[in-house]
Amino acid sequence: MIRAAVLAEIDAILVIERACFGAEAWSENLVAAAIEGERNTVLIDDLDAYAAMAVAGQVADLERIAVMPSRRRQGVARQLLDALCAAALAQGATRMLLEVSADNDAALAFYEAYGFSAISRRTGYYRGGVDAIVMQLELEEAR
Ligand SMILES: CC(C)(COP(=O)(O)OP(=O)(O)OC[C@H]1O[C@@H](n2cnc3c(N)ncnc32)[C@H](O)[C@@H]1OP(=O)(O)O)[C@@H](O)C(=O)NCCC(=O)NCCS
Repeated sequence: MIRAAVLAEIDAILVIERACFGAEAWSENLVAAAIEGERNTVLIDDLDAYAAMAVAGQVADLERIAVMPSRRRQGVARQLLDALCAAALAQGATRMLLEVSADNDAALAFYEAYGFSAISRRTGYYRGGVDAIVMQLELEEAR
């Protein structure tokens, strides 16, 4: 079941972070700041998938979405994103932005399937010089 994450779940979130992002995993402090932030939304699903977003004005930034390998391709990320889009709309956002590594084929396929469009590229943005693709989704009621 998808619900708002609480501080007591930081350890579970760190397990997801490390399994899904390796060396790029968020630290405990970053996860705690996201859970506590007024403009942030952190959702967790059964302790093995989670997503984080920050809203500023009309723009929602999708900061994290991660599903443990054993639960992938079951629509979990899609459900988390549906819930984040609803939360973003409720906070007054009209669009969602994200950055994804140009070599992350699964995430690119997921975002494209969901309806995001690539709007620009940040050359050498990630460690190792990999480009970031910036993607955008116009938010609509009742996706
Ligand atoms: C990207 C990620 C979040 C997708 O999670 P998921 O729960 O497996 O995604 P869903 O099951 O909701 O997929 C929805 C649709 O996205 C597309 N999709 C998802 N993963 C895909 C893949 N590996 N290859 C191709 N298409 C994919 C498909 O169209 C899929 O629908 P289908 O299964 O009916 O074909 C997951 O692979 C993950 O956690 N990756 C590691 C962390 C990461 O890279 N996060 C994004 C950082 S920007």
